Amino acid sequence: MVSHRKTLVSDDYFSPVPDEIAADDLPVVGTLPPQLSGLYLRNGPNPRIGSAPHFFAGDGMVHGVRLDAGEARWYRNRYVKSKRDGGIRGGGSSNTHVFAHAGRILSFVESALPIELDRHLETVGPVDFGGVRTAFTAHGKIDPGTGELIAFGYQFASPHLTFYRIDLAGQVVECRVIDMIAPCYLHDFAMTEHYIVFFDTPALMFKEWGGGEVPFRWQEGRGTRIVVVPRQGGEERWFDVPACQLGHTANAFERDGCIVVDGIRTDRFLADMAADPPMFHRWEIDLTRGVVTERTLDRHPVEFPRVDERYSGLPYRYTYAVEFRDFGPASPPQSSLLRCYDVETGTSIAKDFGVRYIPGEPVFVPKSSDAAENDGWVLSLRYDRELDRSDLVVLDATEFGGDPVAVVQLPRRVPFGFHGSWVAAISESAEQDDSKSKQNCPL
Ligand SMILES: [Fe+2]
Repeated sequence: MVSHRKTLVSDDYFSPVPDEIAADDLPVVGTLPPQLSGLYLRNGPNPRIGSAPHFFAGDGMVHGVRLDAGEARWYRNRYVKSKRDGGIRGGGSSNTHVFAHAGRILSFVESALPIELDRHLETVGPVDFGGVRTAFTAHGKIDPGTGELIAFGYQFASPHLTFYRIDLAGQVVECRVIDMIAPCYLHDFAMTEHYIVFFDTPALMFKEWGGGEVPFRWQEGRGTRIVVVPRQGGEERWFDVPACQLGHTANAFERDGCIVVDGIRTDRFLADMAADPPMFHRWEIDLTRGVVTERTLDRHPVEFPRVDERYSGLPYRYTYAVEFRDFGPASPPQSSLLRCYDVETGTSIAKDFGVRYIPGEPVFVPKSSDAAENDGWVLSLRYDRELDRSDLVVLDATEFGGDPVAVVQLPRRVPFGFHGSWVAAISESAEQDDSKSKQNCPL
C-alpha cells in the first residue's frame, strides 16, 4: 500500500522527489534472510523547490527500509528538519550520513550539530552530546572495542579542529582542541586503536559554510600534512607528503609500529573525475622511522568505501566500494557498479548489475555478531533507470559477484545520495512507542 500526494516521473537520478511517502509490505524478489532484521537508512540531499543553490546543499532526506523476519515491512522517506539559511549547507542541511549511537538515530552534516530522528524517521531535534560547541563531522566512527563515538568538528572559526570522544550514554567525555595553522577541508579522518589521523590538505577553508559557495580553495604549492594524534593524549606528530586530497577513509589500523590508512585519494580537491579519478590508496605511517610510504592499491575509479564495522580501526581484509563509469571531462558518471576489495591478497571482485542500474554506497551487515569478516550481506540502494524506480539489493558478501539473494522493490525513485547504515535489532514494540524505545533501546 502506498500513500502519497502526487507522483513525480523523472529519469533524472539527481532530481529531488516531491514529497514524503510511506509504503507497507514491499514486494521482494528472491528471499530476504530472516536474520536480516532491522532498519536500513540512507541520507541525501533533496532540495525543496527553490530552496538550494546547489543539489549538494539541499535539505537532508532520510530514506528507510524496514526488514523483519524475511519480510520488507515498510519504506518511508522523511525530511530532516534542521535550521537552514539557503546557502551551501549554511545553517546545516543535515544531508550527509545517518547512523545510530547510544540508542539514538542521528543524521549528520559536517557544518552543524547532528539531528536525532525517531524510529519512524521523524525529526526529534539537534544533539550536542552535552558538550559539542563546534560543527560536527558526518564521519564519526564507533570504536568496536569501547562502543564510543570517536569524532571531531572542523570549522572556519577558531578552534579550527576539535576532537571529541562520546561515551555509550551519548555524552562527551573528552573534548580536545588540535592546533591547525589554517582550517582545511576535513570531510573524513582515520581511527585506529590508539590514534586518530587527519589529512591537512591544500583545500583551505576561506570562510564559514553558507552564502551559496563551497568555502574551500586549493592552494597551489602547498603540500599535504598527515597529523597523527594519540587518542590517550600526548604530542601530535606531523608528516609531510606530496599534495593530495583524502576523500573517504575505508579503514585504518596499527601494524609493526606503523599506522596503515586505506582510503580514497585524488590529486586535488573537487577534481575532474576523468583527469584525476578517485582511487583506493594506502598510506603507511612509520612512527619509528618517521616516514610515510604510499601506494595506489587499485586503479579503478571508486568511492564510498565501507568495511565490516566490527573491524573499524583494526587489521581487516575487505572493503566494499562504488565504482564509477561512463564519465568524461566535466561529465559525471552515468552508471556504476560495486567492487569488493581483498586488501590482503590485493585482488577485487566486481558486481556489475548492468548499465540499467546505478548502485550506491554498499553497507555491510554481518550474518551474526560472531560471524567471520565478510560473512554477511552487502546492502545497496540501486536506481533502475528503465523503471525510474529504486530498489534495495541484498548481496551475499561471500558470493559477491553472484546474483542478489533478494531485491526489495521500493515504490519509487530514491535520488542520488551519500551515506547510510544498518540499524539492527529494532523491536516491534520500539517501533510502536518511540518514547519507550529510548529507555529500552536494544541498539
Ligand atoms: Fe562523506
